[in-house]
Amino acid sequence: MEIFESINELRTSVRSWRREGQIIGFVPTMGNLHDGHLSLIHKARERSDRVVASIFVNPLQFGEGEDFAGYPRTEGRDRDLLVENGCDALFTPAVEELYPEGGMPVTIVEVPQLSNILCGAHRPGHFRGVATVVAKLFNLVEPDLAVFGEKDYQQLVVIRRMVEDLCFPVEIVPAVTGREADGLAMSSRNQYLTDAERSTAPVLFAELCKAVEARRSEKATQEEICRAGHAALRQAGFRPDYFEIRRASDLAEVGQGDRQLVVMAAAWLGRARLIDNIQFSLDNPSG
Ligand code: PAJ
Repeated sequence: MEIFESINELRTSVRSWRREGQIIGFVPTMGNLHDGHLSLIHKARERSDRVVASIFVNPLQFGEGEDFAGYPRTEGRDRDLLVENGCDALFTPAVEELYPEGGMPVTIVEVPQLSNILCGAHRPGHFRGVATVVAKLFNLVEPDLAVFGEKDYQQLVVIRRMVEDLCFPVEIVPAVTGREADGLAMSSRNQYLTDAERSTAPVLFAELCKAVEARRSEKATQEEICRAGHAALRQAGFRPDYFEIRRASDLAEVGQGDRQLVVMAAAWLGRARLIDNIQFSLDNPSG
């Protein structure tokens, strides 16, 4: 696997592959890789001749008082995992390489309508930081396709919209959420959980599953279902930020004819902020 820390070296190599007619697949990450991330590498592998991953803990998407400094950094292990899983190139720039002036770039990319709701309402500036860094990374790697996890559903919707609105020639490929045996969505932030919190954590996914069932069976109104989900999380010891059902395509409030939905929740458990979601269809009981 080739490792690039500089923009110029990355561009030179990726462009030479492209000139040979190779399809470039890209998987952006913040490192501390787990099986969820690796499933994205595999998905990119299936569709590409060359797989490029990036590891960059992006300061721009962390708010004040968030875990930027303490975010787990495990470069050596990550590199080994990428090699074992068939990644061809890794881009790991220093912060100064992507933000030479330090701090906030003057030019930012924002998808306001999708960025100020749900997680965005609780993490002001977060999706602006994500959209800006992903736009930069797309301009550096110039991939044919890029794989994003459904685990971060709002992020996926934001990136899709950015790509559409700004005409990036990149296909966005979604990948299903990797879960532990008890249903907990894999996340670097699960490491922040104490043993007791870790045994409580699967309640988040369990409550999302219950909400899907209740919404399908129409036993309760959507409002009642979300209120019950919220209350159950609180009861279990979480501090929920939100528990909501939205239209899957654009996260709008659910309207009369909407059939493709997503139930999403974010909740603090100790010092970990956990997020999860389930997409579902009202037409197809198993979909
Ligand atoms: P990070 O949290 O490292 O996630 C990198 C990619 O892995 C994202 O597309 C995310 O949705 C996906 N992912 C994380 N956990 C997953 C799981 N359990 N199953 C499947 N996919 C999973 O998301 C980011 O980094 C950053 O915001 C980034 C896009 C790199 C921009 O900085």
